Amino acid sequence: MTEPNNNMTSQVLTEALPYIRRFHGTTVVIKYGGNAMTEAALKDSFAADVVLMKLVGINPVVVHGGGPQIGELLSRLNIESTFVNGMRVTDSATMDVVQMVLGGLVNPEIVSLINTHGGRAVGVTGKDGNLIQAEKMPMTSASNDAGASAPEIIDIGHVGRITNVQVDVLDTLVRSEFIPVIAPVGVGKNGESFNINADIVAGAVAQALGAEKLVLLTNTPGILNAEEETISSLEKAEVEALIADGTISEGMLPKVDCALDAVTGGVDSVTIVDGRVPHALLLEVFTDSGVGTQILSQQVDHA
Ligand SMILES: Nc1ncnc2c1ncn2[C@@H]1O[C@H](COP(=O)(O)OP(=O)(O)OP(=O)(O)O)[C@@H](O)[C@H]1O
Ligand SMILES: [Mg+2]
Repeated sequence: MTEPNNNMTSQVLTEALPYIRRFHGTTVVIKYGGNAMTEAALKDSFAADVVLMKLVGINPVVVHGGGPQIGELLSRLNIESTFVNGMRVTDSATMDVVQMVLGGLVNPEIVSLINTHGGRAVGVTGKDGNLIQAEKMPMTSASNDAGASAPEIIDIGHVGRITNVQVDVLDTLVRSEFIPVIAPVGVGKNGESFNINADIVAGAVAQALGAEKLVLLTNTPGILNAEEETISSLEKAEVEALIADGTISEGMLPKVDCALDAVTGGVDSVTIVDGRVPHALLLEVFTDSGVGTQILSQQVDHA
């Protein structure tokens, strides 16, 4: 048993006070990456952090991913996965699996985790209350193909693009002190299902709710540069350069896209944080030592 360090404890609590005051009554959207949902202890610390936020008067809204979990079931079913620009090509069989894993497995797991830690979470997909309305996403070949001729149109199946976010269902839940947990499945005009990258859903939900903060929890220490060092903050032009030279790729592409959209769309703070660090969320929201990469809006351009 280690002796409690009272000095350190009081220091940490004092440090948290201005953050509690600042975020009280505001909405914080948390994207919980499928890749950050690995060890049981990490899942517990995530759930405890969400519950603590709610208890101090912040309104957390969780959007989860599930890439690895979907990949695992697809491979058990011998359905092959391919990715274009970080998006999973989704034929009808794949869409069924996506929906089953997100809505039937990952979502209720997070809901139960939060509830066993003393919160009151309710799971919804983008279909509930017509929350995430979508249409088929048109996709052309990667824009960083230097020297490529005319962009090629690629069919990525049931991958959706958000057309509208109807937040009433979230407002109702939050007003009743529930913590919404959103599975990133969108609904089309004719009731069809769309697979939408969870980062994009989190960014759109954060904007639609007028959230103060968007935290993207993933499995890297933040955005890494070519030397694999964490970049502490980035603005639009820098992000574009890193995409063009291939430093930002795959799963990080939708993350930076939605982050830039969110900061220009009024979300005050957008950060990409290492969800493999215990209590990463708590550290990010309540301390001065938030780590990871902060995405800055264009307005702070030092031109
Ligand atoms: N410059 C970069 N810095 C950091 N990670 C990068 C970079 N470029 C690409 N990546 C990749 O992006 C990945 C994170 O995105 P990924 O989609 O895999 O996880 P996630 O979004 O947290 O999970 P899910 O998609 O299940 O919600 C990293 O593990 C890394 O492989
Ligand atoms: Mg991802």
